[in-house]
Amino acid sequence: MKIGILKETLDGERRVAITPIIAKQLIASGFEILAEEGAGEYSSFKDSDYTNVEVAVEKRAVIFHEAEILLKINPFDEEDLKLVDEGQILISKLYHKSNPELIQAIANKGATAFSMDAIPRISRAQDMDVLSSQNNLAGYKAVILGAFEMTKIFPLMMTSAGTIAPARVLIYGIGVAGLQAIATAKRLGAVVEATDIRSETKEQAESLGAKFILVDNEGEESEGGYAKEASADYVKRQKEAVNKSLFQADLVITTANIPGRKAPILITEEQVMQMKNGAVIIDLAAAQGGNCEVSQINKTIVKNGVKVIGTSIDPRSVSTNASDLYAKNIYNYIMHLTEGTNFKWDLDEEITDETLIVQNGTIRKN
Ligand code: NAI
Repeated sequence: MKIGILKETLDGERRVAITPIIAKQLIASGFEILAEEGAGEYSSFKDSDYTNVEVAVEKRAVIFHEAEILLKINPFDEEDLKLVDEGQILISKLYHKSNPELIQAIANKGATAFSMDAIPRISRAQDMDVLSSQNNLAGYKAVILGAFEMTKIFPLMMTSAGTIAPARVLIYGIGVAGLQAIATAKRLGAVVEATDIRSETKEQAESLGAKFILVDNEGEESEGGYAKEASADYVKRQKEAVNKSLFQADLVITTANIPGRKAPILITEEQVMQMKNGAVIIDLAAAQGGNCEVSQINKTIVKNGVKVIGTSIDPRSVSTNASDLYAKNIYNYIMHLTEGTNFKWDLDEEITDETLIVQNGTIRKN
């Protein structure tokens, strides 16, 4: 079975779906691997790193023509689909719920498509979970970005010229990115506080050394580990509980999301107006509309001396590690789906069922 690694074409993308180390592991499992010329260029992998592990480096058209399985990180697009043939198996993120036209176009080709972003959040799928592996890096990078943008350092520092008080960091949303942000800010010596609508996150935050800001969440349901939209009453209670910390914070990192919905507004403009001069907000939910009312994606807005940075900090900025983890996720997923090098097509099994979006031209999931 031939697997083709495609070079990402999305603007600004710097990752690659399969790294040379993982290509070697796939070859050891019996697959033949082809990689597009320059596929790993922006994540520090040279074509020679691939050829050294017996990957055939080829032009794009050859990959599409020869590979039975085509791998990408970002969704296949119109240009890709022109080159896809009936019966080929595509593996990438597809965001199928918000991309019905793409799914229809894949089906029209008579191809099969698996979606990496549809992997269920269950324990046995953890090592295939690309949302986690990539968000984890975003949490880390948010703190580093904050350090760069702040006019203060994180740790307590005693010097002969005087003592520097540690920076205060506040984190909204204790999911994958939030937990990594807590761990990173803590390691750098900050005083860290965090809050989340799901009370089960209290223990996780505390185990990393953060103080959990408890907001009474009675009546606020969560579903399958994910938060649902908060009631107006919760929003009010959250402000009351968190404002004191917010107004003292030097760095605020917001990571709160609700799957399939706009991100909740957790910090209004009015609250920003009461924050400390020189404080920084890194809004990681900016691509989903933002957790701060002031933020705009890919912009830095200064309001009342507070720098509000709207970003999705995508893992592209740490493309080597992001590719390493992504590739390992795909490897585990392919191992899960296949026996020898043949697909098992075990549609009664949850991970396969949830991620197989199109099968031989038939749409299974809308
Ligand atoms: P996410 O990106 O959807 O949201 C981030 C955080 O924001 C969540 O913790 C959520 O509760 C919080 N949030 C939402 N609305 C809020 C509000 N109004 N106020 C305060 N906080 C709010 O979450 P992520 O990182 O994708 O993780 C979601 C869950 O999935 C977690 O329980 C995580 O432990 C679990 N998970 C399970 C995996 C597995 O078992 N394979 C893999 C990864 C995550």
